[in-house]
Amino acid sequence: MHKLVAAGHNPVHFAKKVWQSNFLLMDFFARRPPKTQLNVLEIGAGWGSLSVFLNKHYNAKVTACDLDEQVAPYQQLLARRNHSKVQSETCSIEQINDQKLHPFDLIVASDICYDGKTQAAITQLIERLICRTDTVFLLADTGRRSFLRLTEDTQIYQQVSLQGYSIEQPLDTQGYILSVNPIKDILC
Ligand SMILES: C[S@@+](CC[C@H](N)C(=O)[O-])C[C@H]1O[C@@H](n2cnc3c(N)ncnc32)[C@H](O)[C@@H]1O
Repeated sequence: MHKLVAAGHNPVHFAKKVWQSNFLLMDFFARRPPKTQLNVLEIGAGWGSLSVFLNKHYNAKVTACDLDEQVAPYQQLLARRNHSKVQSETCSIEQINDQKLHPFDLIVASDICYDGKTQAAITQLIERLICRTDTVFLLADTGRRSFLRLTEDTQIYQQVSLQGYSIEQPLDTQGYILSVNPIKDILC
């Protein structure tokens, strides 16, 4: 990591570490294994640890995308260290249209709804996804105000569900997982 910082790769939008809601989704999948070889898009992926996890354990074909072009080297370092394969892409949530969504079975994200701008972009993405029954979206968060507002605004859609989620390992933390479309379609 120090070499990446020395080479000038300084993430600008909070991706200076792996955030904790990542671990909520890792635990979620460990308890409910997804089908193998799913096509997965992680949005606001930061260092891409969830992408690495899904490729390594479930052979998912994963694209880790983020607004910040500085995070790709961190994603690739983490993937190499874990003998896994992740494709890195610079792309904002706002750029994700139907054409972009087309190949993906599953969209995952954690700790990316933290202000009015990200809340608006994710709301639009959810409204796009509820029109497609073939793509599942899972968004984990510790319960930031913007995330809770997002959940209130999207509870009107029957395709959207919210569950509280807590783990004790590898860290003691709690939060929420919001899902769009039936999760059973992507599980074993
Ligand atoms: C708090 S970090 C979380 C990173 C990662 N998901 C994790 O859990 O470790 C928020 C991430 O969202 C990204 N981000 C913020 N706004 C975005 C947008 N509009 N489109 C795509 N990514 C965005 C940031 O660059 C940053 O990597």
